[in-house]
Amino acid sequence: MRGILLAGGNGTRLRPLTQVLSKQLLPVYDKPMVYYALSVLMLANIRDVLVISSGAHIGLLRALLGDGARVGMNITYAEQAKPNGIAEAFLIGADHIGDDNVALILGDNFFYGDNFSATLRTEAADVDGCVLFGHKVTDPERYGVAEVDQDGRLLTIEEKPLRPRSNLAVTGLYFYDNKVVDIAKNIQVSARGELEISDVNQVYVEQGRARLVTLGRGFAWLDTGTRDSLLQASQYVQMMEQRQGLRIACIEEIALRMGFIDLAACERLAVEFGNSDYGNYLRTVTADLA
Ligand code: DAU
Repeated sequence: MRGILLAGGNGTRLRPLTQVLSKQLLPVYDKPMVYYALSVLMLANIRDVLVISSGAHIGLLRALLGDGARVGMNITYAEQAKPNGIAEAFLIGADHIGDDNVALILGDNFFYGDNFSATLRTEAADVDGCVLFGHKVTDPERYGVAEVDQDGRLLTIEEKPLRPRSNLAVTGLYFYDNKVVDIAKNIQVSARGELEISDVNQVYVEQGRARLVTLGRGFAWLDTGTRDSLLQASQYVQMMEQRQGLRIACIEEIALRMGFIDLAACERLAVEFGNSDYGNYLRTVTADLA
C-alpha cells in the first residue's frame, strides 16, 4: 500500500504562526506536527510516502524528512499549486499510487490510542473499497460527518453539514483501493470551490464499498488546526509522555520497532540528536532492545 501525506493549505487560521512556516511544521510539544501523521503511516506498515504541500513549504518539509532513508522509508514530494481540495491528492499522486491501494492522512491530524497499531495493520492489509475512521465529537458540523444505521452500516457522508445527522466525525485518515483515482477524477468541485474528500467517500458509500471503523471513547483524535487545538495537542502529548516515559510518534523508534531499520542504524540516529532529550530517549530505546 502506498501512502500520501497531505501537508498543504495556507494555514490561514493560525496566522501569524504560519506566516512563513508550514502549519505541519509547527511544534506539537516536542516534535514537528508532521511526525504524528507520518508515524501513523509507518505503523500501518507503509514505506512509500508522497508528501504533498504548497510550493512555498515543500523545501522545509524536504529538509526535515529528506528521502526517508534514515528511517527506512522512501519519501517523495509533490506540489499542490493551490488548496483545491483534499481529493486533489489522488490526482497529484496518481503516478505514485500506480496500481496499488493507498492510505491518505492529513498532516494536521493526531491519533493516539491503545491497540491502534494493530488496527492500522489489520485494516491496511485488506482494503476492499474504502476504510474510514470515525470518532465521536461535540462539534460535528466542523467535519465530514458519517450517518450509520443500527448495524453500523454507512448511509451517508456529508462535509460540514449545517444540520449533522450524527456526531460521528470522519477523521483525516483514509484507506482506499485503486479505484479512488478514477473516482476523484470524476467528482465535481463543491460550492466552496474544493474537490471534497467527503464526495469521494460518498461515492464508495453509494457503491456499498465503504467501511467505518469507529475509534472508541478511550481514543484520542485531535486536530491541530486552531491555536487552541494546537496547544491542547501539545499538552496532551506532554502529559502522556511524562506520565508513561514513552514518546508518541518518535519516528526513529517506530522505524526500529517496525523493522525498517536495524539497531545499529537507530543508535547512529540517536547520536545525531546529541544530548537532547530526544537523543537520550532514543538511547534508552536502543539500550532496551540491545
Ligand atoms: O480533520 C478531519 C477533517 O478534515 C474531515 O472530517 C473533513 O471531512 C475534511 O474535509 C477535513 O476537514 P478540514 O476542515 O480539517 O479541512 P482543511 O481544509 O482544514 O484541510 C485539512 C488539512 O489538509 C489541512 O492541514 C490543510 C490540508 N489541505 C487542505 C486542502 C483543502 C491541503 O493540503 N490541500 C488542500 O487543498
